Amino acid sequence: MKSLICEAFGPIDSLVVKDVPSPVPGPQQVLIEVRAAAVNFPDALMVQGLYQVKPELPFTPGAEISGIVKAVGAEVKRVKPGDRVIAMVGQGGFAEECLADEARVMPLPPDMDFEAGAALVLTYGTSLHGLKDRGHLQAGETLVVLGAAGGVGIAAIEIGKAMGARVIAAASSDEKLALCRKVGADETVNYSTENLKDRTNAPTAGKGADLVYDPVGGPYTEAALRALAWRGRLLVIGFAAGDIPKIPLNLALLKERAIVGVYWGDAVKHDPAAHLASLRQLKDWLAAGTIRPVVSARFPLAAAAEAIAKIANREAMGKIVVLPGS
Ligand SMILES: NC(=O)c1ccc[n+]([C@@H]2O[C@H](COP(=O)([O-])OP(=O)(O)OC[C@H]3O[C@@H](n4cnc5c(N)ncnc54)[C@H](OP(=O)(O)O)[C@@H]3O)[C@@H](O)[C@H]2O)c1
Repeated sequence: MKSLICEAFGPIDSLVVKDVPSPVPGPQQVLIEVRAAAVNFPDALMVQGLYQVKPELPFTPGAEISGIVKAVGAEVKRVKPGDRVIAMVGQGGFAEECLADEARVMPLPPDMDFEAGAALVLTYGTSLHGLKDRGHLQAGETLVVLGAAGGVGIAAIEIGKAMGARVIAAASSDEKLALCRKVGADETVNYSTENLKDRTNAPTAGKGADLVYDPVGGPYTEAALRALAWRGRLLVIGFAAGDIPKIPLNLALLKERAIVGVYWGDAVKHDPAAHLASLRQLKDWLAAGTIRPVVSARFPLAAAAEAIAKIANREAMGKIVVLPGS
């Protein structure tokens, strides 16, 4: 079977597609024929050796997939060959076949296609955990989402609206902001050309935002912190801009603002019950059409490196998926 291989940490274009032996499932593992694998920002960091998790080399990137179960280990009880599933695999997803632990496999909802299934759990899971468990977003509050047309950003807009917030989407181009409005943002700010604080004060009668969702970092974080109201909260999601900001802490003292870390991957391990509750909530919202993964580009496995480069180059909108069967 064919698989995208990272032989050494380095430039994304050094990734190669190779023929490798089919993996064999262990007792509690499931072998999945991959139909779609979503691209996430950490994939781009991981292959360059810039992510907090450094896999043993060589490895195949790709953290979340959907597909059809091909074989199961002797102790697997919940799934069988032929089942349509979603799986969180951490790595190994950009391949024709992939192993997953049974505990990290869930059924693909019957009315959901493989692309949307692959693009769902990581981004929506992160945004729901961030906004609900860490940000305690309340109906009627004002939420500012940075990098709002990206993977976790679009999910944060949709979930923010579902939770009853007024959502201000901030992104770097008018094309990106048009997508944000399409998925429900009430207001938009082009933070390449407009002042975030001024544009947040306008619709909040000078009060500022209650919550900021920040997957971007760099210079955007301090600007967003300054746009927060009395006792506003800033969620630290990630640093897509590259630089980890160093914040003057007087900005937290003044107005009693809080800076709150969010690490979904570890939160799932620390509190599996909360994770299951989140998955149930996402399933209900999907069924009601409240949330809808936005897949904006599709790549064959042979061009998977190009798909990863697109996200690293700030060119992605919503989610990009790799389709190994195409
Ligand atoms: N904490 C967690 O648990 C968790 C979970 C998942 C993801 N994350 C993190 O969240 C961040 C976003 O992930 P994602 O999958 O949503 O990525 P994405 O789709 O690429 O979105 C990131 C956004 O960041 C903005 N950006 C600003 N400067 C950039 C630059 N130099 N290069 C690339 N993008 C830049 C872009 O929007 P504009 O062009 O509009 O500025 C882009 O849309 C990543 O840092 C990722 O590691 C964290």
